[in-house]
Amino acid sequence: MTEQADNVTMSGGGLYSLATIGAKHVIDNTLPRVLSALDNCTQTGSASALTFSDMGCADGGTSLDLWRGVIEHLRNKKSYAGDIQIVYADQPNNDFSALAKITHGLTQFKTYLDEFDRVYILQSGASFYIPVLPACTLDLGFSATAMHWLRGKPVDITGHVHMVGATGDEQQAFEKQARRDWTEILLHRARELKPGGQLVLANFCRDDEGRYLGGTTGVNMFDTFNDIWQHFVDDKVITEKEYQSMTLPQYYNTVEEFCAPFQDANSAVSKAGLQMESIETAVVACPFAEDFKTHKDAKQFAEKYVPTIRSWNESTWFAALSTKRSLAERRDIIENYYETYQSRVEAQPTEHRMDYVHAYMTISRRAE
Ligand SMILES: C[S@@+](CC[C@H](N)C(=O)[O-])C[C@H]1O[C@@H](n2cnc3c(N)ncnc32)[C@H](O)[C@@H]1O
Repeated sequence: MTEQADNVTMSGGGLYSLATIGAKHVIDNTLPRVLSALDNCTQTGSASALTFSDMGCADGGTSLDLWRGVIEHLRNKKSYAGDIQIVYADQPNNDFSALAKITHGLTQFKTYLDEFDRVYILQSGASFYIPVLPACTLDLGFSATAMHWLRGKPVDITGHVHMVGATGDEQQAFEKQARRDWTEILLHRARELKPGGQLVLANFCRDDEGRYLGGTTGVNMFDTFNDIWQHFVDDKVITEKEYQSMTLPQYYNTVEEFCAPFQDANSAVSKAGLQMESIETAVVACPFAEDFKTHKDAKQFAEKYVPTIRSWNESTWFAALSTKRSLAERRDIIENYYETYQSRVEAQPTEHRMDYVHAYMTISRRAE
């Protein structure tokens, strides 16, 4: 039985974007791919608005420069003077207030809205597992670092907290869930894309060398998560049941897994008119570990590095704790958890890093 992953939220109040410069580097890297997709899809001469989506946008801070680049390209290179609407979509429990403040220029982030006319920002609480837009209305759909979140976890993994540490039947259950979820995401996009429309996705992956987020060199990040959580059981900070409930509802597809639905002409995805135009993987170096090489201050590194991890997984750890504990007690355990992590990083700074390993892909809906 699949549980609903309603405990997946990024840090609110704009903290997400402040802590995750690496995610911004990933998005910045997609600009040439997005512009090329745009050149292949837009009906820039048409009177109706061009519609873009940013699925799993969090607070919107990390993609501001991407959308600025897209609008600049349309206005200056393509002479498109018409309306542009960008639909920012995330789960209902996302911090949409932070998103509004960031995109509308009420924070330290520089919005593109001040620079261009006829650009409209819309917000949607629709998950990418349901339709975000009406049929045939989307010109270009975008998503970065979000589609590894499954609809839910198919099982709690024995002795680990993430699918990269799953084996046997449990690993297969995750694989199956991920296959279904990827198809579901694609089918919804196939319906909302205009014929000839494009999708550009930068999704976490396991690459051909078996690398994945936090699993490149040095200490494995997910093993560290697990090890600390296990020690908390040994030290009676948490119960065995709380340990067991902590399984991240995530899956990192390989390139083969991303491509599989497109390779079968009879699959629902192919029949819906989608085709994989191109896919490549790349690693973005952990910016905090790279900075450490210059400043060599272990404490500073640990203090900057751990919040980036915390920004995306705190809510899942929190949800694993029993609600029989008071809120204050649960908060203390979580503080203790990240302090422990921080001291490990400080003790062995050259071993910790969270390199981002992504598959960058362009998918199109066949023109009719
Ligand atoms: C790591 S953040 C990425 C934010 C931003 N796209 C970036 O790359 O910096 C992942 C985002 O995906 C969102 N997310 C997770 N599951 C989702 C779903 N089913 N539908 C829409 N968004 C989802 C989370 O709420 C979170 O805001």
